Amino acid sequence: MTNQDGFETLAIHAGQEPDPVTGAVVPPIYQVSTYKQDGVGGLRGGYEYSRSANPTRTALEQCLAALESGPRALAFASGMAAEDCLLRTVCSPGDHVLVPDDAYGGTYRLFARVFSGWGLAHDVVPVSHVAAVREQLAARKITVVWAETPTNPLLGIADIRALAEAAHEAGALLVVDNTFASPYLQQPLALGADVVVHSTTKYLGGHSDVVGGALVVADPELAERLAFTQNATGGVAGPFDSWLTLRGVKTLAARMDRHCRNATRVAQMLAEHPAVSEVLYPGLPSHPGHKTAQEQMRAFGGMVSFRLLAGEEAAVRACGRTRLFTLGESLGGVESLIEHPARMTHASVTGSPLEVPGDLIRLSVGIEDCDDLLDDLRQALSDS
Ligand SMILES: Cc1ncc(COP(=O)(O)O)c(C=O)c1O
Repeated sequence: MTNQDGFETLAIHAGQEPDPVTGAVVPPIYQVSTYKQDGVGGLRGGYEYSRSANPTRTALEQCLAALESGPRALAFASGMAAEDCLLRTVCSPGDHVLVPDDAYGGTYRLFARVFSGWGLAHDVVPVSHVAAVREQLAARKITVVWAETPTNPLLGIADIRALAEAAHEAGALLVVDNTFASPYLQQPLALGADVVVHSTTKYLGGHSDVVGGALVVADPELAERLAFTQNATGGVAGPFDSWLTLRGVKTLAARMDRHCRNATRVAQMLAEHPAVSEVLYPGLPSHPGHKTAQEQMRAFGGMVSFRLLAGEEAAVRACGRTRLFTLGESLGGVESLIEHPARMTHASVTGSPLEVPGDLIRLSVGIEDCDDLLDDLRQALSDS
């Protein structure tokens, strides 16, 4: 592979040279814990124990690094394991971080309920307002600015380039959770971010059949430190999970094109629906982050959130009435999902500054026939 190869080529080939021994065209599942040494310390290809490194995981890590244009990626057992490894490595007790006012509930819970006990303080800041972030950066020493864009579940947009500038002027790292966009739509490292976080469970895996996470870093020295923590704490991606994720990654571009096309039509239909008070989709020109999204994303993604005029109970009822949209947590698979964030994915932020409105519904728009999806939503909302 060369740096000139296009995204789709890298997704299918980076880190995935045919096996030198057998010619197998996809990396085998190295379902193995340990490796024969040729004399003490005589490692073949650097492999000694699969917590430290495993060839199937290496293939996934090389591919993810290529897709995010970073020198190195690390693959984890889940997105949360990746976040945990990152925070343990770049922060110390007594440090202060900025966290977004809209984010995956589990990420906020990690800061508020786990790392707070470790002595890591956090302030919640609207990361879509760079001036507000700059104000916080000026007020105290900040180690990390954490951003999601688009955010989960309100689909807010943060200007990655502007945030990176602000963070770096203040000596802080910018971490961007790129789960909602995927590297096909947005490459935060190229815009100045220091670390990209993924829940590979979502679009990268793409088929709702595996849980995983990843970190991709711009600085090789930081990558070394992260790899040390990863090996020391052990939240690694297993061989079969790595293989499944890598198989999903091969079709990422084709899937994302279709997710984006379907989501745009769904957002447009909902924007005209009489039961809907607001549609949150960065592809709509009315979205406050539309211009920034246009500048930093290839397209606007497959996630659409919307609010119902009739309120929370109507939203809960509508979530239970769809035929094709499956009621469930998670996102980014080929099948469409619907959920009620306040009572499901974001129940853990109830009562916090990240609490989400009760009348909100979140859709992960899949790649089914879009006419069927539109019909399904219309019937689910018919008496809302
Ligand atoms: C934006 C985002 N980041 C991180 C995570 C956590 O990832 P995982 O569930 O793979 O641990 C999620 C999970 O939903 C998410 O939506």
